[in-house]
Amino acid sequence: MSKDKINPGKQASRRGKYTGQAHGKIILIGEHSVVHFKPAIALPLMSTCMEATVEANGSLSSAPNFSIDCKYFSGNLADAPGNLSNVKSLVAILSQQLCRPQGLGGFNIDISSSIPQERGMGSSAAVAVALIRAIADYAGVVLADQEIFDYTQISENIAHGNASGLDSIATAHDKAVWFERGQELKVFDCQCPGTLLVADTGVKGGTRQAVDDVRALLYSQERGLARKAAEDIDRLGQLTEEAAQALSGGYMRKLGYILDEAQDTLSALTVSSPELDRLIDAARQAGALGAKLTGGGRGGCMIALVPDDNPGSTLLSVVENALRAAGARRTWRLPLHG
Ligand code: MEV
Repeated sequence: MSKDKINPGKQASRRGKYTGQAHGKIILIGEHSVVHFKPAIALPLMSTCMEATVEANGSLSSAPNFSIDCKYFSGNLADAPGNLSNVKSLVAILSQQLCRPQGLGGFNIDISSSIPQERGMGSSAAVAVALIRAIADYAGVVLADQEIFDYTQISENIAHGNASGLDSIATAHDKAVWFERGQELKVFDCQCPGTLLVADTGVKGGTRQAVDDVRALLYSQERGLARKAAEDIDRLGQLTEEAAQALSGGYMRKLGYILDEAQDTLSALTVSSPELDRLIDAARQAGALGAKLTGGGRGGCMIALVPDDNPGSTLLSVVENALRAAGARRTWRLPLHG
């Protein structure tokens, strides 16, 4: 953060509320394999939102005090439970690096969210992005995208262990992203004649455990297991390349096959669950072109691809109803265009 990035308009006063936002994300393809340096494609779910608001509380910059009001906890941030340890660390770092140089003291944080937690929709990354944006605004500092990413990753690595960075990127961008660890990010407009239906199993996902288990398979002492896991990760990488081609050509049927094969491959890596399988089967039987889990798996959400070329788009409602009948707690529509 250079000095010329300090926003002069915000220097005079720190009264008032400073707000940052982020949104949910859906991984189209590439979850898990992205951890192992394969590409992934993610889409913004703009109908879900995370908002963080920061307001000065008058405590001194040398001994700042922070409080938080969110779904999990209300009170002094220092007393917050372990599932907020990522937020605690992030606030400590941001206060030290962004606020203190401006002579700013502590603040109260208010978090509101319509992104369901632990459902593979990126809620932990979104809370970090929203908070970073709010605190930077409070400090009168303009952060580059890379700086927002780096701070988000500090929080994500506490929440999930070895996070690939995909969620940190996808919750901060309002377009589709092609992401590969250590490579240049590609942001693109998706213009395909289809819609993804996103459905929540109602069961919490288990991203950290699932990521650990895939790693355990890859480094298994049983060579057969390790070889098969490596082949599965490679195949997910190839399927992601094929999905990008299908997206750019608008080939929805091809994309459906690709999603189905990705689901089989993720299942082989043990990250699906009976609840996910039930919704995926229901969507396919109701006419979806393809379906798979999205995010860390072991619960959380699944996606089903529905083409736009059916009269009156009734197929969307048919698949939605089938998902609900099979136990989906909630569904969202994510058009692959506009
Ligand atoms: C979680 O949303 C996606 C995973 O690939 C983990 C990661 O990318 O860090 C399972």
